[in-house]
Amino acid sequence: MALPPAPSDSLQGLALACAHCRRCGLADGRQQVVVARGNPEARLMLIGEAPGAQEDAEGLPFVGRSGRLLDQLLAAAGLDTAADVYICNGVKCRPPNNRKPTAGEMAACRPWLEQQIAAVDPPLIVLLGASALEGVLGIRGGITRRRGQWLSSPAEWLRGRRLMPVLHPSYLLRFQAQTEGSPRALTATDLWEVRRALTALEASQHGGSSPGP
Ligand code: URA
Repeated sequence: MALPPAPSDSLQGLALACAHCRRCGLADGRQQVVVARGNPEARLMLIGEAPGAQEDAEGLPFVGRSGRLLDQLLAAAGLDTAADVYICNGVKCRPPNNRKPTAGEMAACRPWLEQQIAAVDPPLIVLLGASALEGVLGIRGGITRRRGQWLSSPAEWLRGRRLMPVLHPSYLLRFQAQTEGSPRALTATDLWEVRRALTALEASQHGGSSPGP
């Protein structure tokens, strides 16, 4: 009897299928579809908005300025970008002039994200910015109020997963301050909580103690 496909097999199939996607008009302007980077076996998935110019050119998410800041913030929280996280976007093609993706584009791309989540099966998901919050949980607005909180969803594809919205790295680039209460400091605190939850989850899976609330 054939074994069920390993995550990397189904993700390879997904990447091939995405490369031919014409589900929305963004296909006309892209250089390439940007699927993911990081570890497909990670227990933590990060979901951003959509690729920018550099991501479109390189075919990898978060490799431009905001990506470099994201990597710094993850490292400061003790998270290894190659081992601990799988990074993707809600929308996989670059919107023209880096505009925000429309609700229609987010909806058109959703089946790919659902397949990605099913293949990686992450218990923990970080939603990077307001578009990811809207595209994944259908919550419009309120990112500054909701950031740093664990949320859940009754939707089948998200059932049993904990999701935390955080401020988008490109928003953080507008502020240099790292003083208490600044956007960067708040995001650092949020990512420490994410790291704590990931560590607790891994400890519970390896040793049997219960994960934190
Ligand atoms: N911003 C995003 O949301 N995603 C990227 O891949 C790059 C910038």
